[in-house]
Amino acid sequence: MFNLYNCNSKLVIDLKMPIIKVYNSTEKYKKIAIYSKNNNELTGRGLRTDITKKRISFVKKNLESLNIFFQNIIDVGCGDGSFLNEINKMSNKAFGIIPTEEELTKLREIFKKKITKKIEFYLGKSNKIPIKDNSVDLILCNCVLHGVGFNIDVFRDSLREFNRVQKNKGILYIGELPQFNEMKNRNYGTSFFKYTIWVLKNRGIKILIKTVIDYLKSLFGSSIYVIQPTNMFYIKKNNLLETIKDYNYKCIHIFDSSNNKKLTLSSSEVTSNRLDYIFVKINNK
Ligand SMILES: C[S@@+](CC[C@H](N)C(=O)[O-])C[C@H]1O[C@@H](n2cnc3c(N)ncnc32)[C@H](O)[C@@H]1O
Repeated sequence: MFNLYNCNSKLVIDLKMPIIKVYNSTEKYKKIAIYSKNNNELTGRGLRTDITKKRISFVKKNLESLNIFFQNIIDVGCGDGSFLNEINKMSNKAFGIIPTEEELTKLREIFKKKITKKIEFYLGKSNKIPIKDNSVDLILCNCVLHGVGFNIDVFRDSLREFNRVQKNKGILYIGELPQFNEMKNRNYGTSFFKYTIWVLKNRGIKILIKTVIDYLKSLFGSSIYVIQPTNMFYIKKNNLLETIKDYNYKCIHIFDSSNNKKLTLSSSEVTSNRLDYIFVKINNK
């Protein structure tokens, strides 16, 4: 049985089994919330819960080093809520912002069983946060702003929105933001066949076999396989440090996202591609 649906004005085929083509990151996580039984897929790290745990420990450590108790925290694009589940302990109240009803329902289900009543979830996007002006102490936005559909305009809109909701002297933590295009030379579009050829040439036969097995698993219904275009947003550190000034933020710390090594702001050290940035909001001019 085939289901036809319209996604971003392109007609795509949604097989009964969950092999899904999407055209932006918001649509991707919506489909994951509908079809996947594994909540870690909401983080974009597939079955790698170890990476999610490692990232949470880095973000927590970096925030703790600031020695601030926050009145409130928002996590924009909060995935499965696991970052909030840890860092809410540094605050009186914590809110997860998530772009689709499907993810919202899933998050409320996950957190129904938890004892804490400190955490709530709301529908919103990085450039449309349902919170009043100058009210948030800590904004966390980890591994969100590079997704398919983001570009410099949406990125700037998001920084403007962070500035709007953030209290003066509040902290903005942007994590896992790439400096370079991780998708360079990946010209397979949304074709699975072309993707397998790319995998064979660039990753070798073992990974190719794994990829085909994952695909077949989806075909026979036990897991989800998402196919999406190969474009992403990225911004070099120095560019970001200039851009952010337009939104009245000052950078106070930078870390390598992969190993949490602290970098100096002017450092030209070779790092892995993704960086974590901590900014403080200075008074609006
Ligand atoms: C790679 S996951 C990261 C989840 C979580 N922050 C983490 O690090 O585990 C990307 C997240 O961005 C969210 N997202 C997609 N489009 C968004 C948008 N326009 N505004 C805010 N969040 C968005 C997705 O719903 C998903 O939760």
